[in-house]
Amino acid sequence: MSKRILSCMQPTNRLHLGNYLGALHNWVKLQDEGDNQCLYGVVDLHAITAGHDPGSLAQSTREIAAAYIAAGVDPARSYIFVQSAVPAHSQLQWLFATQTPLGWLKRMTQFKDKAGKKQDLASLGLFGYPVLMAADILIYKATHVPVGDDQKQHLELTRDIAQSFNQHYCDGEEFFPLPEPYITGEATRVMSLRDGTAKMSKSADSDMSRINLTDDADTIAQKIRKAKTDPEALPDNAKGLEGRAEADNLVGIYAALSGQAKEDVLADFGGKQFSEFKPALADLCVDKLSPITARMRELMDDPGELDAILKRGNDKAQSLAAPTLEETMKILGFWR
Ligand code: TYM
Repeated sequence: MSKRILSCMQPTNRLHLGNYLGALHNWVKLQDEGDNQCLYGVVDLHAITAGHDPGSLAQSTREIAAAYIAAGVDPARSYIFVQSAVPAHSQLQWLFATQTPLGWLKRMTQFKDKAGKKQDLASLGLFGYPVLMAADILIYKATHVPVGDDQKQHLELTRDIAQSFNQHYCDGEEFFPLPEPYITGEATRVMSLRDGTAKMSKSADSDMSRINLTDDADTIAQKIRKAKTDPEALPDNAKGLEGRAEADNLVGIYAALSGQAKEDVLADFGGKQFSEFKPALADLCVDKLSPITARMRELMDDPGELDAILKRGNDKAQSLAAPTLEETMKILGFWR
């Protein structure tokens, strides 16, 4: 049976290696597999929940779309769309917001991380963000959602929202399918290069903590050279990585980029020092990322072409989303 694949990224800052290995890489894999129907969104409404620069939002949106295509999403086979251009997302979000208990949202760890100690100053939008994410997924009745490990809890909430709607309003019949998370590979949670216990993130203060998809070869090599490690040589099996967060992270990155398991990487590098492993990792990173960076630049030089791709994606997304919204409203008893 063909699957409907849906996933999205926020146009906040530049995409990094974590976004690529945790998500984008699998988006391309799923697109190339069987007769899956794939929709990949740039979620600009999510990007304004914690302050943003209106002067760069549209350009960041194009840049994220360019990164999708440069990484291998084929706009002739998959649809790339902009969330704010498909109003049904926010409309469905409202319907779900009225059905979602506050207690479910209070459990979301990402809100706690992002709002920190200043929860009362965080916006309602940031708090309700996972409900919009549920709407992004369920408006297309998506069956599979390829994401990094950090989105797992949001997907569980999406399933809870779908299940509760089905139970309350559809006598338990599956109006909204329960979407399956697709979290797979050797790098589902890429960690910071400066601290193996923190996630690599777009918003971390130090640019040295992440490899951006737009970094040039020298910058990549420098970031890897300076990446935090421990003084031991690499172990010769994956069990030996336990308790060595930084080593585990770098080996995971190597494995994911080379399409191997960590065990295979350690079969080659076990017993070697980081002074030998890091240059090999830097070369591999540059090899894999530089064609993506170059293609992104070409695409960004032709914003007309990018806009045409997005317009086609928006039209398709709108045509799939509108009937789901209409049916949902009918089920909820609205005047029509
Ligand atoms: P966002 O924009 O923060 O990240 C985009 C994707 O990259 C993954 N990711 C990582 N994977 C591995 N290691 C990391 N360090 C790392 N950092 C980020 C994320 O898991 C994600 O898959 N809420 C989402 C966007 C969203 C969405 C959706 C996703 C909105 N609606 C509907 C799927 C379906 C987010 O903020 O992702």
